[in-house]
Amino acid sequence: MINNCRLIQLPQKSDPRGNLTFIEQSNHIPFDISRVYYIYDVPENGERGGHAHKGLHQLIIALSGSFDIELDDGNKKRVITLNTPTEGLYICPMVWREMNNFSGGTVCLVLASNLYDESDYYRDYQEFLTAVTELK
Ligand code: TYD
Repeated sequence: MINNCRLIQLPQKSDPRGNLTFIEQSNHIPFDISRVYYIYDVPENGERGGHAHKGLHQLIIALSGSFDIELDDGNKKRVITLNTPTEGLYICPMVWREMNNFSGGTVCLVLASNLYDESDYYRDYQEFLTAVTELK
């Protein structure tokens, strides 16, 4: 499953006035967007994530600043640094993620395929491991 997660390069329009990046759902991301949220004011040494989703697809972008995301599908782990607004990390369902090493002033934008639903979360790592093992 971790192999289905990937970095997606986003277009950038540059001119003397600055840069502009856009995201079109059928052209750049493999799901329809139902929800957008953003994470900001993360304290020094702050950690986010610490969960997996049963059915949610997401695209995560460092709009400003940088942070690391560790992906874990119960079999393999991979750490990815996000540090540019022209790159999005696509995360498919059933992938545990931990986010840390946030630089000061980071703004993390998340595009999500569904509305917020707490029952879509695994927040317990052992429960996630059991579920992901049963899928294999
Ligand atoms: P959580 O998903 O744990 O944040 P993160 O993945 O960034 O660590 O969400 C934090 C809190 O916000 C939690 O109480 C659920 C709530 N929440 C919503 O109400 N709506 C949302 O769209 C999201 C993402 C979270």
